[in-house]
Amino acid sequence: MTQEQAGAQSPKRVLTGITTSGTPHLGNYVGAIRPAIQASQEDANDSFYFLADYHALIKCQDPTAVAQSTREIAATWLALGLDTSKAVFYRQSDIPQITELTWVLNCVCAKGLMNRAHAYKAAVDANIAEGEDADKAITMGLFSYPVLMAADILMFSATHVPVGKDQIQHVEMARDMAQRFNHIYANNQPILTLPDYVVDDNVAVLQGLDGRKMSKSYGNTIPLFLPEKQLKKHINKIKTNLLEPGEPKDPDSSAVFQIWQAFATEQQTADMRQAFADGIAWGEAKKQLFELVNAELAEARERYNDLMARPQDIEEQLQAGAEKARAIAAPMVARVRQAVGIAGLV
Ligand code: TRP
Repeated sequence: MTQEQAGAQSPKRVLTGITTSGTPHLGNYVGAIRPAIQASQEDANDSFYFLADYHALIKCQDPTAVAQSTREIAATWLALGLDTSKAVFYRQSDIPQITELTWVLNCVCAKGLMNRAHAYKAAVDANIAEGEDADKAITMGLFSYPVLMAADILMFSATHVPVGKDQIQHVEMARDMAQRFNHIYANNQPILTLPDYVVDDNVAVLQGLDGRKMSKSYGNTIPLFLPEKQLKKHINKIKTNLLEPGEPKDPDSSAVFQIWQAFATEQQTADMRQAFADGIAWGEAKKQLFELVNAELAEARERYNDLMARPQDIEEQLQAGAEKARAIAAPMVARVRQAVGIAGLV
């Protein structure tokens, strides 16, 4: 069970971060952004969403790309209707207390725990498989990345952390660090709240153009706010088989059907399933898919383009969010410092 931080007002504090190292795509939208925005509209939830720009440096050392992605991701969330009066929406680097807490957590986190982190282990394994030095091109940022993520979570006493399956381990590591900190410094009192991960099995993990999971690292994505013509082109590129019009098609192995399902009502999904059985032509199925996706995104796309042209408006919202976040982070760090013995002398 999650322990409740004394003083946390809501029973459910939801927090998640988005690494600013890419352009949002349909998979991000369906799997993370759309459910997060819906959740933030429920009054029972106290939501924190942030741009994990320090995390971006782990994957991306191109300053222009990091800056551009930050702008795109912020504009995306705002264009899709994130209500910043309900959710706290901020940029990680605007909260210097997060990196302060990171250091303190570094000093309670066992190195052995980090040795077991999947992302790091995968990088080591890849090096070894290629006959390279095990640590080739592995930075301390990659190695200790779960510690920064733990600081993100523990700073705000998050109780629920929605993540993809690949991030479950990191939330468990944050629990571990919180427990360890509370044990050493707080007599097991919950200065740091133990978070739970939330993996929603109902949201779709979208397939990309080539049928594998839609992911920037596979280069198979459909960016979310492509201009209409480009969106159509991308949808036309989704890989299909060679079945002719009139031949029945299997919806369950088709990326076209799967993306359809993520945007359609139940009735529309049932109708398309029937159309596949009846041998709908791939060209026709893709045309209908384009129309469905475009209808859901068209208005937001306009707002997105507007916001991208007025970065000042985005920045203002981020600054307002950062102020709210710092109002929580500053007293938390003061408490943590006090607990570890760092304070003024008198
Ligand atoms: N590491 C996460 C990812 O790559 C992003 C992230 C950073 C995050 N800090 C977080 C997610 C805190 C949840 C909570 O997807």
